[in-house]
Amino acid sequence: MDWYVKAFLKASLTWLAAGVSLGVAMAAHPLWTVYRLVHVHMLLLGFVTMMIYGVAYHVIPRFTGFPLHNRRAAVWHWWISNIGLALMATGFAIRVHDATAGTVVLATGGTLSALGAYTFVYLIWRTIDGPASMRAAQQRGQAGKGKKLNVA
Ligand code: HEM
Ligand code: HEM
Repeated sequence: MDWYVKAFLKASLTWLAAGVSLGVAMAAHPLWTVYRLVHVHMLLLGFVTMMIYGVAYHVIPRFTGFPLHNRRAAVWHWWISNIGLALMATGFAIRVHDATAGTVVLATGGTLSALGAYTFVYLIWRTIDGPASMRAAQQRGQAGKGKKLNVA
């Protein structure tokens, strides 16, 4: 498995553990439901989305037969998504007590998280299409197979 695949899977599991811990804390201490948005994003953007990022980076190149469009960008994606979400979680928590400061931190984290998501969209999109040279070779291969089948 590539570094960024393992790192996304482990980040996802870490966000799951943190998110459910906060969930239990909120369940036991109802006043803490003011931090519901931290819980929601740790689980939906942290656990669910990071799991999808990691699994997709592993399987889409295998489904398509093309290498991931840019592996260094996937490493970059891991860092901005995780730093972004950590800032978002902090910003949502601060916003409960200080709307102005919380919003600055949240907006910064949100921008990084969104940039991470756009990187993912771009990399997967380009991987589905594949490099022009490999795409042509793959099509020639398929045409060849088709011919053989027709002859047989
Ligand atoms: C041990 C597991 C969990 C516990 C104890 C827990 C607990 C809670 C609590 C106490 C709330 C606040 C409800 C309120 O506002 O009164 C909440 C909200 C929420 N939780 Fe969890 N949760 C858990 C796991 C999850 C998971 C795995 C997800 C998603 C993958 C999730 C998604 C949400 C969402 C989306 C909300 C907000 C719902 C709304 O806006 O009304 N939770 N959870
Ligand atoms: C760049 C990424 C994201 C940013 C900046 C962001 C930001 C926000 C903000 C500002 C709110 C409203 C908070 C309020 O009511 O004051 C919100 C709510 C919510 N977001 Fe996100 N979000 C992001 C990604 C996601 C993703 C990927 C999911 C789900 C897969 C999600 C699920 C939710 C849900 C369910 C709520 C409503 C929670 C509730 O009211 O209990 N968000 N988000």
